[in-house]
Amino acid sequence: MSEHEIKRGLAGVVVDTTGVSSVTAPATGPSELLYRGYPVQDLAARCTVEEVAHLLWYGELPTTEQLVAFERAEREQRALPDAVVAVLDALPVDSHPMDLVRTAVSAIGATWPTLAPEERTREDDLARALQLFAQLPAVVARVQRRRRGLEPLPLRTDLGWSAAFLAAAFGQEAAPEVVRAFEVSMVLYAEHSFNASTFTARVVTSTLADYHSAVTAAVGALKGPLHGGANEAVMGVLAEVGSADRAVEWVARARAEKRKVMGFGHRVYKTGDSRVPTMKAALDVMVEREGRRDLAELYDAVEQAMADATGIRPNLDYPSGPAYALMGFDTELFTPLFVMARVLGWTAHVREQVEANALIRPLSQYTGPGRRSITGN
Ligand code: COA
Repeated sequence: MSEHEIKRGLAGVVVDTTGVSSVTAPATGPSELLYRGYPVQDLAARCTVEEVAHLLWYGELPTTEQLVAFERAEREQRALPDAVVAVLDALPVDSHPMDLVRTAVSAIGATWPTLAPEERTREDDLARALQLFAQLPAVVARVQRRRRGLEPLPLRTDLGWSAAFLAAAFGQEAAPEVVRAFEVSMVLYAEHSFNASTFTARVVTSTLADYHSAVTAAVGALKGPLHGGANEAVMGVLAEVGSADRAVEWVARARAEKRKVMGFGHRVYKTGDSRVPTMKAALDVMVEREGRRDLAELYDAVEQAMADATGIRPNLDYPSGPAYALMGFDTELFTPLFVMARVLGWTAHVREQVEANALIRPLSQYTGPGRRSITGN
């Protein structure tokens, strides 16, 4: 019998305050996600990723002058350090892209001096955050091209963050509607309160470990299919179902086998994820462009079959996975794309943790053998 109530998975536990984002998820009615007070849908419709980065880090959307300065600073940081390129090139071509991204973040960190906790400043932390935001697209584009046996391309500095990334990944400028669809996904993925990877970054930061240790650990947490890895796993679901007419039978079998269907369900949202309609509209743009009505029908059929059989609604990974596939990314690249965006939220939370730190160290209830002695021979 425990003297404490155990909340497995920390479900429903409020562990700290945050000013970065708020999630409202009522038992009935629509959910809402606000970044520093702004509905994420409005940000996705009207802002660039750079503007959202400024909002998350500095608390406000940039003025025109601030945006010009911020964009210039970001563009100046885009080239990868030689040491990071060397580390990436030394690893197997067929390593999982998330392993390469995690390693790249760690290698980027090793190019910075280690500061004693008392030497750490907000300016230094923000410089590290800006560099990660600017360089992760170069890492992911490089990983995508290397897997395909293509020479890496430097990120252009005459294009915005999203357009420069797409051009470096695919070797040509993307159409404006593709850039917009991608940008929408990045804004929607940028931040989500105390999710597992952000919490991981905060746990590491709470020990006063360095900046890049926190972000590297967060990348590791995001890899799991119950978290960021779900956008990759969604493609497995759609491939397994195969066609819209098989959705009902497939979902029934998945239920019978007690399988979790990737891209559905959420720890916090039980009536639906407020980000899904915005991302679904971006997916629709890609479906139209690529003439893939079959994929749209399959998507709708699985969603309907899940709703009818379980009442469980899709999460953001469900529309983003197929959207990324239609943009031309390898499936294994989907979670690294998520990293490119979520690094904004992680780094905003790292700063918040530093500024009001308390070591995160919960308790556990022991269930192993009782006290015993070593009986020697
Ligand atoms: N497919 C099938 N059943 C699901 C489900 C899914 N994706 N998500 C939840 N359920 C069911 C559970 O089996 C459980 O049923 P039970 O009470 O009969 O055992 C019930 O719904 C509650 O689920 P639970 O796993 O306790 O909720 P949770 O809050 O711990 O899980 C997730 C949240 C995200 C881990 C879970 O929904 C999931 O695994 N989803 C798939 C992975 C995914 O898409 N992750 C990305 C999240 S953004």
